[in-house]
Amino acid sequence: MKRIIFIVFAIHIALSSCSSLLKKKETFEVGNREFVLNQKPFLIRAAEIHYPRIPKEYWEHRIEMCKSMGMNTICLYVFWNIHEQKMDSFDFEGQNDIKEFCELAQKHGMYIIVRPGPYVCAEWDMGGLPWWLLKKEDIQVRTKEDAFFIERMKIYFSKVAEELAPLTLNNGGNIIMVQVENEYPLYGNDKEYMTLVKDAIVDAGFNNVELFTCAWSHNYKPTMLEGVLPTINFGAGSNIDEQFKDISKDCPTIPLMCSEYWSGWFDHWGRPHATRSVEHMCGSMKDMLDRKISFSLYMAHGGTTFGQWGGANTPPYSTMATSYDYDAPISEAGWVTPKYTAVRELLGNYLNEGEEIPEKIPAQNPVITIPEFTLEEVAPLFSNLPEPKFSEEIKPMEMFDQGWGRILYRTKLPAGDDKRKLLIDEVHDWAVVYVDGEKIGKLDRRRGEKILDLPQTNKETRLDILVEATGRVNFGGGIIDRKGITKSVTVLDNKQKMELKGWEVYNFPVDHKFQASLDYKKSGKIDVPAWYRGTFNLEKVGDTFLNVETWGKGMVWVNGYNIGRYWRIGPQQALYMPGCWLKEGENEIIILDLDTPEACTVEGLDKPVLDDLRPDKTLFSRKEGETLDLSKEKAAMKDSFKSGNKWQKFNFKKTQKCRYFCLEALSGFRNDGMASMAEFYVLDKNGKDISRNDWSIAYADSEEVMQDNNDAAKIFDLQESTFWHTSWSKEKEFPHHVVIDLGKEYDVSGFRYLPRPQENGPAMIKDFRIFLKETPFKK
Ligand code: GLA
Ligand code: CA
Repeated sequence: MKRIIFIVFAIHIALSSCSSLLKKKETFEVGNREFVLNQKPFLIRAAEIHYPRIPKEYWEHRIEMCKSMGMNTICLYVFWNIHEQKMDSFDFEGQNDIKEFCELAQKHGMYIIVRPGPYVCAEWDMGGLPWWLLKKEDIQVRTKEDAFFIERMKIYFSKVAEELAPLTLNNGGNIIMVQVENEYPLYGNDKEYMTLVKDAIVDAGFNNVELFTCAWSHNYKPTMLEGVLPTINFGAGSNIDEQFKDISKDCPTIPLMCSEYWSGWFDHWGRPHATRSVEHMCGSMKDMLDRKISFSLYMAHGGTTFGQWGGANTPPYSTMATSYDYDAPISEAGWVTPKYTAVRELLGNYLNEGEEIPEKIPAQNPVITIPEFTLEEVAPLFSNLPEPKFSEEIKPMEMFDQGWGRILYRTKLPAGDDKRKLLIDEVHDWAVVYVDGEKIGKLDRRRGEKILDLPQTNKETRLDILVEATGRVNFGGGIIDRKGITKSVTVLDNKQKMELKGWEVYNFPVDHKFQASLDYKKSGKIDVPAWYRGTFNLEKVGDTFLNVETWGKGMVWVNGYNIGRYWRIGPQQALYMPGCWLKEGENEIIILDLDTPEACTVEGLDKPVLDDLRPDKTLFSRKEGETLDLSKEKAAMKDSFKSGNKWQKFNFKKTQKCRYFCLEALSGFRNDGMASMAEFYVLDKNGKDISRNDWSIAYADSEEVMQDNNDAAKIFDLQESTFWHTSWSKEKEFPHHVVIDLGKEYDVSGFRYLPRPQENGPAMIKDFRIFLKETPFKK
């Protein structure tokens, strides 16, 4: 009997290895000016989608949607911090099962490009780096200088490789390329670090797959690596010949590729919903196709930044909305949009040999509405405090082992008069302050707020500072962004400064278990921070959009799923609620609100609300009644910009002292009355860029902040695709002015200017003057 079993087993093995031999092994190479798949030219048309931004139940639907749009590849970031939320405890199961995600793509004949970081940006908390790195006080990231960072990165890569290295094309899977780091030249110039990352990826197990890097058209060079394909990123509407001019000259044999072709853009809380037109997106896409340039569409489908995973940009600090719709061709809920139809039509004319676009587009998931209901149970924050920790010094939340959420700092405030002020240095990111249980004010990091007036107190009283973390910086030099209070809390009065010590610290984590464990009681709305709980019944389930416009600021959990942050300032007023996380019968919802709600009601809508901004005038760069007065000023320079979309540099005749730098736009190339500018650097006496970390806009005569996200701070937000644009309504015509406060005085010798990226776009400045001052301009 044993023998028979053995023979059957042997035959089985022989047959199965035979069948895998029969399946022809695929090959992929970086060839001469083209990619080569199975010995044939292959143009990559990749669709970027993010597995944590799509409920697992919908992964296959979204992959099929990408396929039906005309894509042949899926591009995916791996988010380190979602897999290693606690140091050394890795999770690649369920929603984190990247292997299953790749296999699903393979099932539909799609190739995969993997981008494992370690840093990914992606408008994601800390750009994908784990928060616990910040427990090391002197941590440095993305550099060889920090051995701990490098060691942790290697461990992480080895875990990713365990999951994905068996799926490279050479191993019979569908992974054709792996990216090394992400837009590194935007952060540093440590080439040895880049080599280390590359070696770590190879050593981890990605040793038989093509590697590539991505950067921008003017900065890809310094970190180019031997044997690694350089590619560049840019957005809808870009001038393709200009973008590829340098790289195609420098690297005459590489296939050209745009690794991130931005289809739209992301949304910030308190700023208008960003969009990019179908014409711009398809225009430069067609230009790439005509030139046989491969691309990955970032995003093909943005999805939702559920939970606490949204990141932030700085300077100035600005936090990401929950929706990552991105104005992408496939909407947040997986719907076909006009962009989708246009891309599908366009790509049909540019298929590789043997490819077809499926005739059918997958059906949209069912949508339901939910009639308005009230959350009737309340658990006030101050009567639901967890066990405190004690700390003599104030410290950020990471030092108390908390990754995300809210933290309450409590101490004693000595008696004193009402001339005193409280200085909180720094609030990361939003705080409500109470003296003796009475709210005395709020502080918002987006405005750099740090100081509050203290009331008179006749005896020692209790001081409570409740701080909410609203997303770690994910881009640029500000990425070491600890949460809570980062430095100190000081009472200032005329005579002295007194730093407060002796803190009781309460941590409010973001997991559902904690929110469900509180003591809820029937009650109406209250005006202190509180959790609200309610239920709603469904006869059938489907996708819906939870309208939370009557709520203040906080986070929502439904049936245990953290569906994200909300904030009354908009522009997003409804949260995408995937039907696969709802149930027939009773469903539970918990909302933590830190600001008072207007009403404790929620309803399910059948469409998103992404563009209902409640404007915050305090953020405008021109305060009411202000007009810049240059009548007594002497210009330091008068000149004209060249047309085109490239960087331009200007030197002053002599170096000058300056803290306030004014650019006056006198005319435009199209004479349409409007001005715009994408990026701006001021040069020090050695011709080097001055750091922009302490910059702020002292004045801008006009900004389009309602219909588009074009405030003046966009000239130093590091993003070349975002720009300051004067109001579309032309409330004011030329001259236009922007004044930058450099934060301190410098000897300045010139400046660098980048126009908006759109070819022959409107509002391009021609003639200009520069004014430099050590003291503020009169306005
Ligand atoms: C860069 C990053 C991406 C993303 C986009 C903007 O290109 O590489 O991760 O942040 O910008 O959406
Ligand atoms: Ca910009």
